[in-house]
Amino acid sequence: MNDSFAKEVREGLSAPSKRLSSKYFYDETGSKIFQEIMAMPEYYPTKCETRIFQAHAEDIIALSTSNHLNIVELGAGDASKTYYLLKALTQSGKNFTYSPLDISEEALSQAKDSLNVRLPEVEVRPIRGEYFEVLDRLSQDTEAATKLVLFLGSNLGNFNYAGAEAFLKQLYDALKPGDQLFIGIDLKKSPTIILPAYSDPAGITARFNLNLLMRINKEFDADFNTKQFKHYASYEAETGEVRSFLISQKAQDVNLKKLNMTIHFDAMESIHTEISKKYGQEEFKQLIRSVGFTWKEAFYDSNMYFMDVLMEK
Ligand code: AVI
Repeated sequence: MNDSFAKEVREGLSAPSKRLSSKYFYDETGSKIFQEIMAMPEYYPTKCETRIFQAHAEDIIALSTSNHLNIVELGAGDASKTYYLLKALTQSGKNFTYSPLDISEEALSQAKDSLNVRLPEVEVRPIRGEYFEVLDRLSQDTEAATKLVLFLGSNLGNFNYAGAEAFLKQLYDALKPGDQLFIGIDLKKSPTIILPAYSDPAGITARFNLNLLMRINKEFDADFNTKQFKHYASYEAETGEVRSFLISQKAQDVNLKKLNMTIHFDAMESIHTEISKKYGQEEFKQLIRSVGFTWKEAFYDSNMYFMDVLMEK
C-alpha cells in the first residue's frame, strides 16, 4: 500500500470539507485519460504551449549563454513539446544532456523511446523519483554544466499561490547561480474559454476526476459507486482558480476496507480534488520576484492565453 496516498486519503476524507490531492490522478488509467484531455478541442493549454515551442525554440535557447547545458524536465510526460527545444539545441551545436524526471517509469521510457526515434543524437538520461528528492541530489552535483529546469504545461497551476511560492522557493534553493528555470503559465482570460477546458461536453474530464475514486477502490479495497458522484468545475475570476470537485448525488456511506474507515456523504456534499490556477502577468512577476529569480523573457501564443517564462537564479 502507498503510505503517503493512504495518509492523504485518510486525512482528506475525514476533514470537515472533504478533499483529495490531484497528484494521485496519474495512475496508468489516469495518465491515459490525461492524454485524451490534452487532445480535446476545449483543452487549449497544450496547444498554446506547443505553438510557443514551435515558434520560439531558437529564441529560447539563444537566451542561454552556457555552452554546456543539463536540461532537467520536471514531470516530463512524453516530452512531445520539449522535442522542439532539443531539436533547436542540436542544431545550435551546444553541448547538452536531457534528463526527464518523472515518478512514473512508463512516462520515462515513453519519453526516451520517442526521443531516440525522433532525435537519436540527443543523450537522454531519465531520472525516476519525486521532484525534490531528485533536485536535492542534483544540487549536490559538482558538474560544470549549467542547469535549465523545465516545468511546463501549467503544472505550477496545480498549486495555489502559497503552494506555488513554496515550490518555487525550494526549486530556487536547489539551483546554482546562473542556472535557469523555464516555466509554462496559463494566463487569466475569459471564463468562457477557461471553463469548457475543465468541463468538456464529452465528459473526458469527468472520467479523469472520477478515476481517482476508482483508484481508491482498487488500492484501498473501497466501494465508491462512481455513478453516484458527479464532476463539477468552477472558475473564480479573482484568484484565477479553476476548482474541481466530485459531488455526491445522494446521502451514502463508503467503506475503505484497507483503511478501516467508513465515510459518510450527505446529498450534494463535495470532495475538492484539484486546483488549476491561472495567473495575471503582474501577479506572476511578483511571485517570481518574491522568490528571488530574475525574469529574463516571456514567450506567448498569438492569443496570449499562455506564456512560457525564462528566469535565472
Ligand atoms: C496537469 N495539469 C496542469 C492539468 C491542469 O490543467 O490543471 C490537469 C488537468 N486537470 C483537468 N484537466 C487537466
